[in-house]
Amino acid sequence: MKSIGRKIIRLESVDSTNNYTANLIKGNIIDHGTVILADEQFAGKGQRNAEWLSNPGENLTFSVFLSSVNLSVERQFVLTQFVSISLVHFFKQRNIEAKIKWPNDIYVGENKIAGILIENQLNANAIKNSIVGIGLNVNQVSFNGINATSLKLCTSESYIPHEVLFEYIGVFNELLDVFWLKSSEIDRLYSNLLLGLGMIRQFIDSSGEFNGTIVGVTESGKIRILVNEEERNYDLKEIQFLMRSDSEASQTCN
Ligand code: BTN
Repeated sequence: MKSIGRKIIRLESVDSTNNYTANLIKGNIIDHGTVILADEQFAGKGQRNAEWLSNPGENLTFSVFLSSVNLSVERQFVLTQFVSISLVHFFKQRNIEAKIKWPNDIYVGENKIAGILIENQLNANAIKNSIVGIGLNVNQVSFNGINATSLKLCTSESYIPHEVLFEYIGVFNELLDVFWLKSSEIDRLYSNLLLGLGMIRQFIDSSGEFNGTIVGVTESGKIRILVNEEERNYDLKEIQFLMRSDSEASQTCN
């Protein structure tokens, strides 16, 4: 895949940068790697039809258009893994120890610092276009009781959001060069960064609460959980991950 960020479009206000990108794709007027950044989204989209709320001007809300992903439908999870890893690496550069809450939420301790919404357009058996939407908490310090954190809460510094974006784009491009499409490497890195990996945690499935240990993910992106020495694989809709009040990471940033 070619690098991203040669062109950046900054909007004052938009419903959702993912929707805006989708419209540019429809009009055939967007190049691979273009980044759409908005100071404010008035209908920001989260995963599972949730809203993505972000104080105007304080955080990063942006989408990246990818036109040369070159992945089969069966392997589309690789893109989720890659983007998740790139965010964790970005935070690492700032000495923040982030983890991936499966499948693609980025947490510091038990608090969310970034979220990803990838919308793929398919062509027969392959991904044709991808819109990678990222919400990254930069300067916001209060989240109305939601378990969330930000760069500012973690480092006690304020940032200029678009400068943070430039830095993230740099990390994304560096990682592209190093290991894009090296699936086994991506699998290994992703699994090692999973929140709760190798620890006994509480989950809920259709039969109720149970304790299990995350041991990784399958090729298609299902979570692998060991329960009484037996492995179970779950899709996103089939399981809920209970967060803990005591933190498993040294850093919590709240
Ligand atoms: C989530 O964790 O629920 C995913 C959040 C994704 C939010 C970003 S902000 C930029 C892009 N545009 C949207 O409407 N959503 C994504």
